[in-house]
Amino acid sequence: MMMKNYCIVGLGSRGLYMFAKDLVDYYHDVARITGLCDINPGRIENAQRVLGVAIPGFQDFDTMLDSVDCDVVIVTTKDSTHDQFIIRAMERGKDVITEKPMTMNEQKCRAILDAEKRTGHHVRVTFNYRYAPYKTEIKRLLKEGIVGDVHSVEFRWFLDTVHGADYFRRWHAQKINSGGLTVHKATHHFDLINWWLDKEPVEVAAMGSRHFYVPERMKNHGERCSTCTVTKNCSFYLDLDADEKLRTLYKENEQYDGYFRDQCVFSENIDIEDTISAIVRYPEGIQLTYGLTAATSFEGWQVAFNGTKGRLEAFEPECFVDLEDQTEFAQRASSLIRRPEDWRISDNGQGRAFDTLQIRYYPLFGSVHTFDVPYVQEGHGGGDRRLKDHLFKDASHDPLGHIAGSRAGAMSILVGVAANQSMAQGKFICIEDLLKK
Ligand SMILES: NC(=O)c1ccc[n+]([C@@H]2O[C@H](COP(=O)([O-])OP(=O)(O)OC[C@H]3O[C@@H](n4cnc5c(N)ncnc54)[C@H](O)[C@@H]3O)[C@@H](O)[C@H]2O)c1
Repeated sequence: MMMKNYCIVGLGSRGLYMFAKDLVDYYHDVARITGLCDINPGRIENAQRVLGVAIPGFQDFDTMLDSVDCDVVIVTTKDSTHDQFIIRAMERGKDVITEKPMTMNEQKCRAILDAEKRTGHHVRVTFNYRYAPYKTEIKRLLKEGIVGDVHSVEFRWFLDTVHGADYFRRWHAQKINSGGLTVHKATHHFDLINWWLDKEPVEVAAMGSRHFYVPERMKNHGERCSTCTVTKNCSFYLDLDADEKLRTLYKENEQYDGYFRDQCVFSENIDIEDTISAIVRYPEGIQLTYGLTAATSFEGWQVAFNGTKGRLEAFEPECFVDLEDQTEFAQRASSLIRRPEDWRISDNGQGRAFDTLQIRYYPLFGSVHTFDVPYVQEGHGGGDRRLKDHLFKDASHDPLGHIAGSRAGAMSILVGVAANQSMAQGKFICIEDLLKK
């Protein structure tokens, strides 16, 4: 297979640990990193140290592309800056792999689609969840037509108070950076629905509010944990020094850009929602009801498809607030943590979660059928590794259409953009209108 040269822009957690490290450790026979770029010089140095190989670093993106050989640019910066690197890379004759969300508003989305047409180069969006075996099996069953013609979908996503809270500590907490969880997080979920149904959304109505991560919940809180005086009373205290990655990626480099990784989750500056409900209409009158909650005691998701032949239900616990998580959150008391009996618990004393996940099919007439899918206890349900194999090794075999381009990137974020507009305007928002200038 042909060796390709990759440049990476954005050397935070995802850029370094999802892409750069694996390119060096696992994919070195087919991929070479030729340039590393970040606005923060400390994070460039950190990446060079972690990777342990001599790769030139740049604070300026164009200078990097002027200086090194590059076939493909990998974009892993904060969401609101993706568009500038995606577009510039294509204008400079490169293909692009971008992290989700492809971008965070409709103007930037249109500019990316236009640049792709204009330049003839391509964007791939890293929808890792598509690749998880459990989600792939749902796709396979639906494609086989197990439920007949789908007429409605129910989808709910739960973020626990470890993972969920983390979005309220950093740049994600402002819509100007992330589009809110409706875009930043739900792009994954809307992409899954679009892909499972093999349809593009038509119109969206939504409600959203912030109920949990509000200033009233923690009186006299500081700007950030490291300077806060009420940490003893706070279940969300985060000690950056206690975690090697958090310390070396963020704490030790904050003097360069003022990026504080431990901002208060109850800050007055937060403007994103923690509770979101949306309804989406798809072609042929298919209805989706969607919900996201960012402060539950467990993490996971559930989906159900109702069709002319029956109902397909899937349910995956992702991770639980267990003892290991609590070490990061010194004040957290295990007695406060609820564990629903019917959700199998990850820390069962055997060091692993469970062997299989189930998908249940309830035919309209006849008995229930259960499909067992082997449980994969790796990043994003096994999606990360399979995505990278497909990106960097061989993508010629793609029978279920896992590869996601700019159109899929656009269709998933535009549901979130429409949801944001619907929250503000109190009416249905048409997706096609967002694609028009
Ligand atoms: N697919 C997934 O499951 C998944 C998981 C986590 C994050 N992500 C995505 O990956 C991206 C990065 O997330 P992260 O958690 O690593 O964030 P992060 O804050 O850890 O890293 C972002 C990096 O981008 C750099 N940066 C910001 N603006 C820049 C600019 N203008 N020029 C150059 N560098 C710039 C920052 O200095 C930082 O090093 C986000 O888009 C996020 O949505 C995807």
